[in-house]
Amino acid sequence: MRPMPEFADKRGVPVTASTGAAVQALDAVVDDWLRFGRDTGDLLKCVAETDPDMVMAHCLRGYFFHVMGSAKLLPRAWSSLQRAEAAAHAVSQREKMHVAALSAWCHGDLHRARDLLEQALIEYPRDVLALKLAHFIHFYLGDVAQQRDSVARVMDAWDDAVPGYGYVLGMRAFGLEEAGEYPAAEALGREAVERNADDIWAGHAVAHVFEMQGRHREGIEWIVANETNWRDANNFAYHVWWHKALYHLALEEIDAVLDLYDRRIRADRSDDYLDISNAASLLLRLEIRGHCVGDRWDELAEKAAARRHEHVLPFIDAHFMMPLAAKGMHAEAEDMLVSMRAWAAAHESTVSTVMRDVGIPLAEAVYAFGTGDYRAAVDLLLPIRYAVQRIGGSHAQRDIFQKILIEAALRDLRAPLARALLVERREARPWSPAAWKDYARVLDAVGDAAGAADARSTADALLAA
Ligand SMILES: [Fe+2]
Repeated sequence: MRPMPEFADKRGVPVTASTGAAVQALDAVVDDWLRFGRDTGDLLKCVAETDPDMVMAHCLRGYFFHVMGSAKLLPRAWSSLQRAEAAAHAVSQREKMHVAALSAWCHGDLHRARDLLEQALIEYPRDVLALKLAHFIHFYLGDVAQQRDSVARVMDAWDDAVPGYGYVLGMRAFGLEEAGEYPAAEALGREAVERNADDIWAGHAVAHVFEMQGRHREGIEWIVANETNWRDANNFAYHVWWHKALYHLALEEIDAVLDLYDRRIRADRSDDYLDISNAASLLLRLEIRGHCVGDRWDELAEKAAARRHEHVLPFIDAHFMMPLAAKGMHAEAEDMLVSMRAWAAAHESTVSTVMRDVGIPLAEAVYAFGTGDYRAAVDLLLPIRYAVQRIGGSHAQRDIFQKILIEAALRDLRAPLARALLVERREARPWSPAAWKDYARVLDAVGDAAGAADARSTADALLAA
């Protein structure tokens, strides 16, 4: 077969393609993906029609099927890999690394996929596709240092003259936020949004800063000020609405939380894993604070039950367990746990290791909590609380598991433990009315009525501020 010519994408990164027009079509896919657009899939189909043998188009298709977090899409990731491998003769080293990274991902070796993408970035620091995929993998490995440093390593290859620079700043902002470098994260996130008003990932990075610093009113104002710029975003916008709901929940504005849930977060009732995770986590947070959520668990439970044998990521399984436990669907929940154990025993992969070490006890704890076995929930969660980061997701997302642990300790009347956990939380989040209210509960339990009254006054003052 005659080798195809090598072109460069709009950032100067080599792409083997049949025509320059096909490379421009690939650029359009990446542009849409960077801004979480809704047309990424359709644009990628256009590339495949223009150039059926483009290795990078097959790789990108395969990556997307992994990123969507659905087991039913994995066969299509494999078929994309096969097509990429078949077409990968006389292509650049960069493209060979992508084929190898996709292969590693398909084989369940996320560490190798990550390493290959990072190797590609050493050679091609403007390979924004490798950068965003590495960002995704670091995120779901819970590797906060890499989320920060991976983007930092390429910064001298980017400036305003390189298309997409603002989106790189947005990724850097998120990495800094997860690493706890909040002022730098906020400044860079705002700078990225100034460059690209539609950069929802950068806007989301700033939203995380507000969450982690307890700046709830500012968070609400930030999202209101930017929401029209995200009107063309894909379902990731639901996650940003979830963040807005968290601010309202912290401020005890429950009507606003439920309104956001019904009109924004869960309006389309999709079975996307992130959409279900946002919703389940929010309902559980509401219930932990003593609020009724009506029949909102029902459709989530139905969708989670249908996907209970997938085991794509421990993060997803832990969230899918929430509606099953909340609805008391014991047969489905127990079947899911059996399936998780069998899957983890039968597979040797990055995810299966985390599933065995953390994912299974975490899902067991969520189930125990939902069924009222608070002692078991504490006993399961306490030994793994610092390992939960390995399931990936953000600090804000994983905080639900700390909330479960604290609430289970309170309900199981384990006052010394609950007190220690709540003092820790009060120290970490002195701005949190909920932390002070829970601290008051435990002080009441140990007979310190004056201390409890003081803690409640602090919570009231925070809410009134
Ligand atoms: Fe988030």
